[in-house]
Amino acid sequence: MATTNKDIKIRSYDMQIDRSRVEDLERRCQVGPAESMFLLFTDTMGDPICRISNSPLYKMLVAEMDNELVGVIQGSIKIVTVVSSPNKNQAASVGYILGLRVSPVHRRKGIGSSLVQSLEEWFVTKNVDFAYMATEKDNEASVKLFMNKLGFIQFRTLSILVNPVRHHVTPIPSNVEIVKFKIEQAEVLYRRLMGSTEFFPDDIDAILKNKLSLGTWVAYPRGESYSWSDHQFEFNGLDGIGPSNSWAMLSVWNCGDLFKLRVGGAPLSCLIYAKSSRFIDRIFPCLNVPVVPDVFNPFGFYFMYGMHCEGPKSGPLMTSLCQFVHNMATTTRNKECKVIVTEVGEWDTTLRLHIPHSKLLSRPEDLWCIKALKTDQQEKHNFFELTRTQSPTAFFVDPREV
Ligand SMILES: CC(C)(COP(=O)(O)OP(=O)(O)OC[C@H]1O[C@@H](n2cnc3c(N)ncnc32)[C@H](O)[C@@H]1OP(=O)(O)O)[C@@H](O)C(=O)NCCC(=O)NCCS
Repeated sequence: MATTNKDIKIRSYDMQIDRSRVEDLERRCQVGPAESMFLLFTDTMGDPICRISNSPLYKMLVAEMDNELVGVIQGSIKIVTVVSSPNKNQAASVGYILGLRVSPVHRRKGIGSSLVQSLEEWFVTKNVDFAYMATEKDNEASVKLFMNKLGFIQFRTLSILVNPVRHHVTPIPSNVEIVKFKIEQAEVLYRRLMGSTEFFPDDIDAILKNKLSLGTWVAYPRGESYSWSDHQFEFNGLDGIGPSNSWAMLSVWNCGDLFKLRVGGAPLSCLIYAKSSRFIDRIFPCLNVPVVPDVFNPFGFYFMYGMHCEGPKSGPLMTSLCQFVHNMATTTRNKECKVIVTEVGEWDTTLRLHIPHSKLLSRPEDLWCIKALKTDQQEKHNFFELTRTQSPTAFFVDPREV
C-alpha cells in the first residue's frame, strides 16, 4: 500500500529501513494531553510492531515527508461479539487503531488524518465492519482528530485502574481459596460465561495460549464444594449460581515482556515524594502510605483481563484475586513489574469498588470511539443500534490492545 497526499507519502512499515526511525519517533512523542504534568512514553525494546504482532491480522503504516519519517500508525483486525440490543449479539469484524504518532514539528499538516484514513482503507479491503480506538478524554488533539474530523463517535467510557506494586506481599484472607485453571478450562469457561459480552474476542483461545498470558485463576469461599475433571466443570452450579455461591475469576497478561513504559516530565517534588513513599512503605508497611512506584525509569506491568464475578460475596473475592496478582508481581524475580493495570466500564461499580487501585495513578476516563466502515442499510442499522445501546453489563478489554 502506498498513498500519496500532497507531500506526504504513506506506505507499509519496513522493518529493515524503518525500525530505528520509528523508535526514535516514539521517543519524541509523549501520549496524552499536551499540557499534562506527566508524560507517558513507550519503549518497544527494538520491535516497534510488538504491540500488534499478537493479533490475528495487523498492519503498521508510516508517513514520510522528504524522506523523513514523520508519522506512524498501527492497526489490528479480529472477530468479536457486538451487542446491538440487550438480547441481540452478533459477530462482527473490527479494526483497532493504536499507536498513532506524528512528529511534534510536523503536526497540524494533515499527517495524522492521512494515516488514519489509509488504515481505514486497509480495513475496508479486509471487509472490516467497524473501526475503533481508545483515547484519554483530555487528549484534545486525538479526540478532535477522530471525532470532529474523521467521523468517529463516542461509544463507551472505561476507567484504567492502576495499582502500584508494593514491597511487601498483601495477606489473602484465609477463608478464600484460589485455584489456577488449565488453558482449556479457562477457554471453556470464558466462552460460556462471557461469549455474549461486548467485544469478546472470537480467538480467546489464542490469547490464553499466548506466552504473555500468565494464567487464569478463580477465587471462591474456602470450604464450598469445587470440583474439576478434565472434561467437565462443576463448581457449585455454574449452570445456576444461587445466592450462596460466590466466585470471581481473572487472567493475567505480562505486558512488560513486550514493551516498557516510562513517565517523563515529572517535577522534582514528585520524584522526591515517590522515592520517600517507597522508602516509608518498605520500612513501615502498616502505615499504608499511598505509594508511587519508580515509573520514571522504563517499567513493565501486568494487565488483568477477563475479570468476572458472580454471587453476593464475589466483590471481596475479586479483591483477593487482585491481591494474589499483586503478590505474584512482588515475589517474581523480575522486578520490572511496577504496576498492575486493568480497564473496566465506568458503569461497572462492583468491579471498580473491589479492584484495589491508586486514585493518583489511575485514569478515570478512557474514551472508546467507533466508526462504521460499511455503508449498506443493514450495517447502518446495526451501527445505530450498537452505539445506541447504553452501558452493557460488561465489556471485554483485549490484553493485546493495551
Ligand atoms: C494526535 C496527533 C496524532 C495528531 O496528528 P496531526 O498530524 O497533527 O493531525 P492532523 O494535522 O491530521 O489534524 C487533524 C485535525 O485534528 C485536530 N487536531 C489535531 N491536533 C490538534 C490540537 N493540538 N489541538 C486541537 N485540535 C487538533 C484538528 O481538528 C485538526 O484539523 P485542523 O488542523 O484542520 O484544525 C498528534 O498530535 C500526536 O502525535 N500526538 C501525540 C501522540 C498521541 O496522543 N496520539 C494519539 C493516541 S490515540
